[in-house]
Formats: sequence, C-alpha cells, structure tokens
Amino acid sequence: MIGVFDSGIGGLTVVKALKRLSPSYPILYLGDTARTPYGSKSKRTIIKYSLKNAEFLVRQGARIIVIACNTASSCAPEAIRERFGLPVFEVIGPGAQAAVKVSRKQRIGVIGTRATIVSKAYEQRIQQIQPNAKVYGTPCPLLVPLVEEGWLSKPETAMIIKKYLHPLKNLQIDTLILGCTHYPVLKQLIQRKIGSRVVLVDSAEAAAEKVHAYLRNSGNHSGNHLFDRKIQPESRIFITDTTEQFCKTARLILKDPIPMQIVDL
Ligand code: DGL
Repeated sequence: MIGVFDSGIGGLTVVKALKRLSPSYPILYLGDTARTPYGSKSKRTIIKYSLKNAEFLVRQGARIIVIACNTASSCAPEAIRERFGLPVFEVIGPGAQAAVKVSRKQRIGVIGTRATIVSKAYEQRIQQIQPNAKVYGTPCPLLVPLVEEGWLSKPETAMIIKKYLHPLKNLQIDTLILGCTHYPVLKQLIQRKIGSRVVLVDSAEAAAEKVHAYLRNSGNHSGNHLFDRKIQPESRIFITDTTEQFCKTARLILKDPIPMQIVDL
C-alpha cells in the first residue's frame, strides 16, 4: 500500500496523478485537516506532525510513504526515513529537477507556504543541480486556506494571486514551480496571471512520476508482496477532522469518490 499524507486536501493532487500513472496500486491518504495549515508552523512542529502521520499510515499497512506536502518535504523526510526504515518520497527534489530541465534561462520562481520558502529547500536543491540558476521564492500564505475553502474561481482569489505574482513577473522568471501541493488546482488562474511565456512546474505531478518509476521497477522483482497485485485492498482517505468543504473539494480534485473516514492520530 502507498501511504500518502498532506496537511489537508492539497496532497490529493499527488493522489490524482498517481492514480493516473499507477492505477493498480491502492493508496491510503491522510489529510491532517485538524492541524492544517502546516505552512505557518515551526520546523519542529512540522516534523512532529509528519512523524505522527507516517506512523498512522504504517499502522494501516503502508509500505512506502509519499510526503505529498512541500512544507513537510522541506524538513521531515530524513526523520521519517530514520524512524520507519521505509522508502520515503517527497515533492521538492522532483519539482526542482523538473524545473531545471524545462527552464531555458535558469531564472526560476517558486511559490509556496511561508515555511517552504523560508527553508530555502528549493533553492538548495536547484543549485545542487544547476549552480548558476537564479531562484526567487515568494510565500503565498493565503492560497492554502482559499483552496481548502474551495474558492477556486472567485475574483478575490484571482486578485490575491495577481498580487503575489507581481514581484516574480518583474524578475523575469521563465519557469515557476508550484511549490505547494494545494496550488495545482489553481493552475489555470496562476498561468493567466504570470503570463503564457512562463512554464509552470507542478511539484505534485513531478513527485508522482518519481513514485511511478519506483513502482514500475519494484513491480519487476517477483516475490515483492508489497506490490502483489492479487492483494487488492481499497484506496481510502483518512482525515483528522470533518470539514464539509474537504469532501466537496476532494470531489472536485479526484472526480471518482474514494471512501473517507475520520480518525484520531
Ligand atoms: N499542501 C501543503 C504544501 O504543499 C500545504 C501546507 C500547509 O498546510 O500550509 O506545502
């Protein structure tokens, strides 16, 4: 089973991409809706919550963990690997690689939560691959609550996006990383506001491709019960608090419903 977690609904954009790329693998998704947002919390707290999330997913039968949250990916992967000794995937490495690949001028913008931008995780990963790249990060703290609320096509959302992107437009970036898994649902709006010449890189999509490649290779090893296709448990979504809005927005993102259950961690 693939265990996927996020602070809320955003990680469903990774689930959507995974279901498209690797439809035969069941997914356990945990949205920590009781404690969202993570982006305004300290590194210590984000690591603590991430370990709890991973522990829950492992107890439910997950044998690989996908951190479908940039904020948690910026600080928690090592702690999760150390604690559980399982393969752990995150979204920042794949997002950084994809951006370097598509950027012509290596002038790359990143939008994300405050914690992700302050961590400089994207900047570090990009400069490891391409030391000459210029990376400009802009925190967009209001976008996560707007997505959680389902305000996907409201004029207020468009106005806020325009304001956030204004400095990046002036810096003449040619590539923009959606460094938060909540943002792909606002992709069209973001593209309109940043302009059609800027290439958008979706960290959720890039991460799902990485997991897909891993599953394809692992699937080739016979006897790997983890990916035994005869065992076909159902995909499930767990949330730590009820929000009517979560269900509505989840339906918008996933289209096909996945059974949902409230849990305490
Ligand atoms: N989807 C999370 C991310 O990618 C949102 C974090 C939050 O809860 O603020 O960073």
